[in-house]
Amino acid sequence: MANQDDKFKKVIAHAKEYGYIFQSSEIYDGLSAVYDYGQNGVELKNNIRDYWWKSMVQMHQNIVGLDSAIFMHPTTWKASGHVDAFNDPLIDNKDSKKRYRADVLIEDHAEKLLIKAKKEINKAAKRFGDAFDEEQYRTTNPRVVGYLQKRDEILARMGKSLENEDLEDVKALIEELEIADPETGSRNWTEVRQFNLMFGTKLGASADSAMDLYLRPETAQGIFVNFLNVQKTGRMKIPFGIAQTGKAFRNEIVARQFIFRMREFEQMEMQFFVQPGEELKWYEYWKDTRLKWHLSLGMGEENYRFHDHDKLAHYANAAADIEFNFPFGFKELEGIHSRTDFDLKAHEEYSGKKLKFFDPQRNESYVPYVVETSIGLDRMFLAVFSNSLKEEVLDDGSTRTVLKLPSILAPTKVAVFPLVKKDGLPEIAQEIIDNLKWDLTVLYDEKDAVGKRYRRQDAAGTPYCITVDHQTLEDQTVTLRERDSMAQRRIKIDDLEDILRAELSMKRWLD
Ligand code: GAP
Repeated sequence: MANQDDKFKKVIAHAKEYGYIFQSSEIYDGLSAVYDYGQNGVELKNNIRDYWWKSMVQMHQNIVGLDSAIFMHPTTWKASGHVDAFNDPLIDNKDSKKRYRADVLIEDHAEKLLIKAKKEINKAAKRFGDAFDEEQYRTTNPRVVGYLQKRDEILARMGKSLENEDLEDVKALIEELEIADPETGSRNWTEVRQFNLMFGTKLGASADSAMDLYLRPETAQGIFVNFLNVQKTGRMKIPFGIAQTGKAFRNEIVARQFIFRMREFEQMEMQFFVQPGEELKWYEYWKDTRLKWHLSLGMGEENYRFHDHDKLAHYANAAADIEFNFPFGFKELEGIHSRTDFDLKAHEEYSGKKLKFFDPQRNESYVPYVVETSIGLDRMFLAVFSNSLKEEVLDDGSTRTVLKLPSILAPTKVAVFPLVKKDGLPEIAQEIIDNLKWDLTVLYDEKDAVGKRYRRQDAAGTPYCITVDHQTLEDQTVTLRERDSMAQRRIKIDDLEDILRAELSMKRWLD
């Protein structure tokens, strides 16, 4: 655990030191769970968004984009269920005055039972060697069976209590399990209360005529209310999708994990409209397609896993998360939800407008079913950034800090150095930059020894460095140095553009 904490602290410190992420309004001591992206952060964030957009919109002829407003008519949120059901059950500790999500406290307790069961299984696997049958042990060893059964019972009871809005039973469960405040160990809890996560605001000048609005808690509803506009004007035929990226806002109760859980964040969502009855086929398709997108970035297959939901949201008939191995363990990165016709039907009911698709093949109109893919851009940023930060011991015993970002996402693609600040070398470096900057983000650096400049770019995540030296004056070649392997090769200046373009093309990464 200490190791995980250390790693996470390093990630946060590095993100600040290299201009990726700053605390919002830091000079006023910051605003909790709100962050700003610095000069490198904004580039990485834009590149992640572009990589998503390219694969979801430009690579699918039946998916189009949208950019809907953050403010929406307040009835939207009545229809979507957010006014009544977008709540987290919260509980306060009377001694520490700390606030927690009651369901998270219970889930963490259940997770500990799973860890205990896994420890027993691992011990037995070591003892029995090749002859070990994990499935048999899991279902017959009394201790393992006990842990797993208890865990299932706890989660089932919590799921039922939350579904029935039985908050007294949620509190009773916390007491029965003797769950203590993770920070202080106190068991002096308040009642469990529901807390709506939407931020309210007002539209209009005078107090009497002002209209109560919400800052959108998800971008999805902007897509649903525009479903017919896009379908008609784009002459879209089912199945088709509408994608958008944009800010969402949630008044999160527990927001202590840097940019993992923020109060203002960005989502990248796509709603795929299908024939009723075909939604589970498309649900599987999108689970598979989205996992492939993640794997295309080369951050290690072992760092992803699916988590199928037992407790479904009010609108879903199937749902899964793609979880990523963050510095604090596996947690949700993206959600794939089969949302049925819940949203469109609800908007039909509340607006009185028909939101149906006329299917010429079936010669009938119907409300389409929807499969959604929804990923947090900031959370994806954290996954990429934390996975890329490495401390390496080199052959000569020295260490280097290197940010091995997938090069397609790196904020600066190439840094160009003149070996010395004279003899015409800076001018050649500048010419190389002027040629490459049309397609790539390029940076110039002439300060310090070249070795130090390489290290600086390693830590900032720049995948390629080019050094112009005296040999360049004779044969028009430069040194191209690769961040990850540290390999250096001599390249003709005229070949640089083609080589870098091939390495850094979307096609090479996404295909
Ligand atoms: N439209 C469906 C929806 O919003 P969600 O599971 O609540 O579903 C989707 O959110 C994704 O948005 C999550 O998988 C996560 O990546 C991101 N997300 C949600 N809340 C967030 C928060 N407070 N901070 C950062 N990202 C968040």
